[in-house]
Amino acid sequence: MKFKEHTAIITGGAMGIGAKTAEKFLNEGAKVVLIDINEKTLDETLARLSTYNEKIFTIPADVTDRAAVKHVVKTTLEQWDTIDILINNAGITADTQLLKMTEEDWDRVVDVNLKGVFTMTQQVAEVMKEQQSGVILNASSVVAHYGNFGQTNYAATKAGVIGMTKTWAKELGRYNIRVNAVAPGFIKTAMTDKVPAHILEEMKERSPLKTFGYPEDIANAYAFLASEEARFITGTVLNVDGGVVI
Ligand code: NAI
Repeated sequence: MKFKEHTAIITGGAMGIGAKTAEKFLNEGAKVVLIDINEKTLDETLARLSTYNEKIFTIPADVTDRAAVKHVVKTTLEQWDTIDILINNAGITADTQLLKMTEEDWDRVVDVNLKGVFTMTQQVAEVMKEQQSGVILNASSVVAHYGNFGQTNYAATKAGVIGMTKTWAKELGRYNIRVNAVAPGFIKTAMTDKVPAHILEEMKERSPLKTFGYPEDIANAYAFLASEEARFITGTVLNVDGGVVI
């Protein structure tokens, strides 16, 4: 049990990588708070994980909403006293080519993928500073490294996440807080279901391992980075992508 007595907040936890990560952390003994804007799916996920009932609760919340995030932090501390791990997993896409991208497409993606991560981290880091311990993990993407057709907004935010990760590793290390990012390749979730099949096939062919990833591949990476085994690792970006970036 890697995380006995540890409390983890996971954003965007209603489905995909976030929900699988919740399951992994619960299996490793953690107490988990799942945050998501999608209340219905959050309820379904909670029902599915009901065997862990006293070790999990959910809060419907938008990570870009400062007041909602404050409520998440307050409620978690009332319930469980500490916040040991924060996983900034919530993220969205609004894909279209540069010449067709609207200001609204840009703002929406920047708001969730950058401001959401900033807002959550700023408030949780205050608690971790008091505790003099904590781990913060951020969802980047391989497109931060090599860009992607139709993803001006998304690639910009995922590269921005790397910038924030390295900055926070430098600023928060003195409080015994580690900050790392994971850059997934193509992972089979609702997000990638939107990508046309021929592009998915192309991505698979590009990868040396010639396979897609699954949410558990990313959950395993988060679990390693959050654990004591990674105690000397901060400010890094772990690519979990079947080698697609090399
Ligand atoms: P998903 O679309 O399956 O799940 C994302 C979750 O975030 C949803 O439950 C959604 O309701 C929630 N969410 C969206 N906006 C929110 C907000 N404002 N506040 C709270 N929750 C919100 O996505 P998936 O595939 O599980 O991806 C998770 C993370 O991993 C994202 O940050 C994504 O950018 C990143 N990623 C995913 C890859 C993939 O291939 N699936 C590849 C690279 C990165």
